[in-house]
Amino acid sequence: MNLTGRAEVYGVIGYPVKHSLSPVFQNSAFSYLGIEAVYVPFEVKPGDLKEAVLGLKKAGVRGLNVTVPHKESVLEIADRLSEDVKAIGASNTLVLSEEGIEAYNTDWLGFLKAVEEIVSLEGRRVLLLGAGGSARAVAYALKCKNCRVYVWNRTYERAERLAESFGLEPVESPEKALKDVEIIINTTSVGLDGKGTLFDYTLIEPEHTVIDLIYTDTPLIRTAREKGCLYQNGFPMLVYQGAESFRIWTGCEPPLKVMKRALLPYGYPTDSPRTLSKT
Ligand code: ATR
Repeated sequence: MNLTGRAEVYGVIGYPVKHSLSPVFQNSAFSYLGIEAVYVPFEVKPGDLKEAVLGLKKAGVRGLNVTVPHKESVLEIADRLSEDVKAIGASNTLVLSEEGIEAYNTDWLGFLKAVEEIVSLEGRRVLLLGAGGSARAVAYALKCKNCRVYVWNRTYERAERLAESFGLEPVESPEKALKDVEIIINTTSVGLDGKGTLFDYTLIEPEHTVIDLIYTDTPLIRTAREKGCLYQNGFPMLVYQGAESFRIWTGCEPPLKVMKRALLPYGYPTDSPRTLSKT
């Protein structure tokens, strides 16, 4: 669509941000709905966060997604925090206006909506791998669905802290919980380079459902595919968290099918009929 001086500006702030695929599907959604808006990446170094966000607000930018490493530090510059942000301790969505900066979190809801495309989470037994920022949003979502969650992290103390915040059960090794769980979720960065494992993946059973927040093909996802498990990589969550941000900014129903299709050339999975099923 042609942009005039009336165009609204949205974006994503992160460091690095060049790998981000959010501009791809957010712009396709604006265009599809005929909204005169553009979504751009802003590479902002950690020390420049406050100045950058306040400057973008002054320049009339209407909304921002927030990604690594700013999701927690952005809370300090927000004027209002949603209840989800307070509980999770991180924000991935800002609304900038005359009234100030509002911080929201759509990661947890994006996670729920994505995973519930393939499996119902209510009351499930889950092994959560990792205890960083992403794990906090996932833990919050899982507790909303009354899951029994075992959490393992390389640094055990961090798993203990996460467990305490959300009522989870820390375990000293993933293997200890594997037989007791139905769903395995990786929130760590292990596997991002296509290599690296967190435990002996031959122990994964076909009955396990496997979720990886990473959207490239990881050894965990490859194992799940080979074993015939139900599985999902990070692409659907990427779209759903962005779709919820889109809803907050525009008040419009996000065109999910359009967003997903925009990501097909970038590797959005087509190997499960369920991944593209919803509009
Ligand atoms: P994010 O916001 O993406 O979750 P983060 O808060 O830095 O990022 O958390 C990264 C997670 O990946 C942590 O759980 C981290 O484990 P530690 O707490 O022990 O650092 C995990 N992680 C990163 N590299 C890892 C590795 N090589 N082996 C195991 N876990 C790893």
